[in-house]
Amino acid sequence: MKTQPLLIAASLLAADFARLGDEAKSALAANADWLHLDVMDNHYVPNLSFGAPVCRSLRRFLGDDVFLDVHLMTEPVDSLISPFADAGANRLIFHPEASRHPHRTATAISAADLRCGVALNPATPLSWIDGFLDCVDLVLLMTVNPGFGGQSFIPSVAEKITAARRLLDNAEHPIRLEVDGGINGDTARLCRLAGADTLVAGQHIFSADNYAHAVSALRGNDDA
Ligand code: DX5
Ligand code: ZN
Repeated sequence: MKTQPLLIAASLLAADFARLGDEAKSALAANADWLHLDVMDNHYVPNLSFGAPVCRSLRRFLGDDVFLDVHLMTEPVDSLISPFADAGANRLIFHPEASRHPHRTATAISAADLRCGVALNPATPLSWIDGFLDCVDLVLLMTVNPGFGGQSFIPSVAEKITAARRLLDNAEHPIRLEVDGGINGDTARLCRLAGADTLVAGQHIFSADNYAHAVSALRGNDDA
C-alpha cells in the first residue's frame, strides 16, 4: 500500500486555553491539517484536560470542514463514544488497554459514524492491534508516555515505527501511521524516515513565535 501524504495535527493541549478557538484557527492558518484533541481523565493517565463539551464548542466555532482528531486517554472508553459523536468529532483514537473489549469498542466507534484509531503506548507491543486492524484507519504510536505535553521523545520507539510501517503497508485498506509526543523538527525527520505519515505536535507549534514556520519545519522544509 502506497504511503499517504504527510499530515500535521496540532495538539491543542499546548494551546492557551483562555483563547482556545483563536489558537485553533491560528494553527489551521499556519497550515496544520488537523486539530488533535487530547482527552485525559486523571484515571487512565495522571492528568485532566477536557471532554466532549470543548469538542462541541470547537466544532461550532470552526465549522464543519475542520478535522477533529480526538485522542481518548480515558478508561473506560465506550461511554464516551456517543458524547463525542454528538460533539462533532471526526475520529476517536483509543488505547486498547483502557477497554475491556477493544474489538467491540472499535466496532462501536465505527457504528457511530466516526473514524476509529488505536493508540499504543511506548511499552505496548504492536501485536495489540492484531485482530482489529480491519476496524481502524489510523494507528497512533505514542512517542512519550501519555498524560502530558512537552515531554521528550523516546528514541527506542523508532524501531516500532518501522515495524508498524511494514505491517500497515500490507494491510488491505489505507491506515495512517501517526506519532504523538515530543515531536519537533529533528524528531519529525526521524519519524518520517521511519515511515510515519501523520505527526502530532503541541509544544513545538504553540510555543513557537511563528506557527507557520513551526509547521513547515515538521514537514522538513528549510525555511523554519
Ligand atoms: C500526550 C498527548 C500528546 C501531547 C503532545 O499524552 O497525547 O498529544 O499533547 O504534546 P507535545 O507535542 O508537546 O509533546
Ligand atoms: Zn495525543
